[in-house]
Amino acid sequence: MTARLRLDALRQGDAEALFRYRADPEVCRYQGWRPAALAEAERFIEDQSALAEPVQAQWFQRAIRDRVDGVLIGDVGFCMADGQAEFGITLAPAVQGKGLAREALHALFGWLFGGQGIHRVHASVDPRNAPSMAMLQALGMRKEAHFRESLLFRGEWVDDVVFGLLAREWADLAAKGAGIAASR
Ligand SMILES: CC(C)(COP(=O)(O)OP(=O)(O)OC[C@H]1O[C@@H](n2cnc3c(N)ncnc32)[C@H](O)[C@@H]1OP(=O)(O)O)[C@@H](O)C(=O)NCCC(=O)NCCS
Repeated sequence: MTARLRLDALRQGDAEALFRYRADPEVCRYQGWRPAALAEAERFIEDQSALAEPVQAQWFQRAIRDRVDGVLIGDVGFCMADGQAEFGITLAPAVQGKGLAREALHALFGWLFGGQGIHRVHASVDPRNAPSMAMLQALGMRKEAHFRESLLFRGEWVDDVVFGLLAREWADLAAKGAGIAASR
């Protein structure tokens, strides 16, 4: 739970909402997974339902819900392996720009660094994905690498930028309140 959000398991009742925002061309432009039909969203949720808890080296997807009415407004996934966690987040267009990704990731980082003892979190992003690049920087993450045309993505060689953050850096940021409070 955060001030405005609830992060929990995806349910079959979420399939339509998940499909609607995940299939949106703006939302899925730089995303590896884009469902072509509602059935794909249903299958995705079914596959995730088999995982009650995160398993090493497997992606674990959580629902991001409005805290009050429980409506699905996005999802956040992470993959823990050898003390590190990669993550990705997606929000429905109607709720973007309100600081909700920041709020959800703050909760996720707290849990990964605190409860799970993770040493480093990282994310991979297409540099043309300006909102995502800005969000990762605003969270206090460090741009660590820019690989030129290192991924073959939908038939095109694209760049890949890696952002990282260490547990001790997160603790410093949290102590200063940076990366948590909204700036706009
Ligand atoms: C990237 C994404 C999750 C951001 O979600 P969001 O809820 O709109 O982000 P927030 O409102 O929490 O913004 C956090 C910070 O990111 C930056 N930011 C987010 N969107 C921005 C935009 N469109 N333009 C400029 N800066 C932006 C800002 O610095 C912002 O902090 P501020 O509000 O204090 O200025 C959202 O745009 C999205 O779902 N995109 C499509 C999916 C995707 O590409 N995901 C990849 C994520 S790794």
